Amino acid sequence: MDAKRNSATIAVVGSGYVGLVASACFAEIGHRVVCVDNDEAKVRMLQEGGVPIHEEHLPELLARYRGKTLEFTTDLRAATQSAQAVFIAVGTPQSETGSADLSYVDAVASEIARSIDSYKVIVEKSTVPVYTNEWIRRVVERNGVPKDLFDVTSNPEFLREGTAVVDFLHADRIVLGAPSDRSAEILRNIYEPLTSGSYYNVPGSVPGPRTALDPPPVLQTSTKAAEIIKHASNAFLAAKISFINVVANICEAAGADVEEVARGIGMDSRIGPKFLRAGVGYGGSCFPKDVAAFRHVAEQVGVDFAMLHEVEKINEEQKQRFFQKIRSALWTFRGKKIGVLGLAFKGGTDDIRESPAVDIVKKLLTEGSNVYAYDPAAAKRCQEIIPESARMHYVDDPYVAAQDADALLILNDWQEFAELDLAKLHYTLRYPIVIDGRNLYDAATMSKAGFTYLSMGRPGLAQPLDPVGAFFLPRRRENGKG
Ligand code: UDX
Repeated sequence: MDAKRNSATIAVVGSGYVGLVASACFAEIGHRVVCVDNDEAKVRMLQEGGVPIHEEHLPELLARYRGKTLEFTTDLRAATQSAQAVFIAVGTPQSETGSADLSYVDAVASEIARSIDSYKVIVEKSTVPVYTNEWIRRVVERNGVPKDLFDVTSNPEFLREGTAVVDFLHADRIVLGAPSDRSAEILRNIYEPLTSGSYYNVPGSVPGPRTALDPPPVLQTSTKAAEIIKHASNAFLAAKISFINVVANICEAAGADVEEVARGIGMDSRIGPKFLRAGVGYGGSCFPKDVAAFRHVAEQVGVDFAMLHEVEKINEEQKQRFFQKIRSALWTFRGKKIGVLGLAFKGGTDDIRESPAVDIVKKLLTEGSNVYAYDPAAAKRCQEIIPESARMHYVDDPYVAAQDADALLILNDWQEFAELDLAKLHYTLRYPIVIDGRNLYDAATMSKAGFTYLSMGRPGLAQPLDPVGAFFLPRRRENGKG
């Protein structure tokens, strides 16, 4: 029998972003999937047709396979026993020291070990520090499982929130860190519909950049290399963002436009144009946590990765600089009405974890402002940490957020925020001040439309304000010269 034509039975442990998207996508490429979570309420919700996260294509995939080739359960034992490969996709939150807290991975590994009754490939899908595979192996062996009944492999996931399904099915690369031919073969078989390109010819397949003629390449590595590839990729991307944010600050001081500069840098094929968008800083459930965890890994193995400290410091300072920019336009905050567009850590998602927007809103409230915030998807989640109150209002329209406001802030990059009717916005605001933390508008267009428009790393086209004074005022005051 041709193994490549067999669909595999896969268990995925964890139904968070990575686990749930991977489960739906494995079903989409023809496998039988059992997705396990110990949160009974969540499993019930998934069984009954609920979709816990805002993610394009996910509702359709779940609807198509749920109850057929995709099951949800709390029974890890049965799921392990039925599967050839068990993907661990549980959370690896940041501990107090900055290192990754691997207690969920540890607990799941023990439970898998106690269920193993035939050869299994255990796959790390969560982002984990190098050496985690060795720990998992030890845990499984300690539970009495013979060496030849399992392998521990690493298959890091590079999906982004908001485009997770397309990222999974149209991956840049598929990294397989495997210690044996047997485990590598099983993983290759699982990804074969993507790597052979056959998936892209299936009618109704999720469209994206990959085609049958240009399928994702497989990179087979050692398990340790695969673990490091994931941490190093996220740390490098975060560094790229912090780098452009500092360049933006230089541009702003010098009167140059960071968008032009980023274009010029990105045209160098060694650098590339992506992840060079200046803004209020990176957030989300991965970059902040993974930069800290990778720095900790370096420390543990005796390597000084001070550069990552700088990356984190720049990211923190970027939020403060943005706040100073608001101050430079408004002078004082108490009693002012501020419209906010964007609460999620970026557009296209309802995730507010480590969102720079949330930090900025909290600070506005502390300073006594009245905030009217709109986000197409994240308001509900945000209400859990910043409840609606006399000064915090969640609205469901960008123009309602802007109504009679002293200024409008743009804090993430939903497409909708880049397509506002400028005449209507100008009419709606009390003062036509827009402070754009994501550079969604052309500065000259905004100026022509009559706005005082402050953005990131671009010459200030502030109409009623002195553009240079506006930016430098706070710093002068700090130096006692203002
Ligand atoms: C990231 C990685 O991209 C992904 O490969 C990994 O699997 C998980 O972490 P994600 O957290 O979903 O994905 O978001 P991403 O699109 O990478 O953006 C991260 C943050 O950086 C956001 O706050 C975003 O607004 C910011 N960003 C991104 C910038 O400020 N500038 C850019 O040029 C790109």
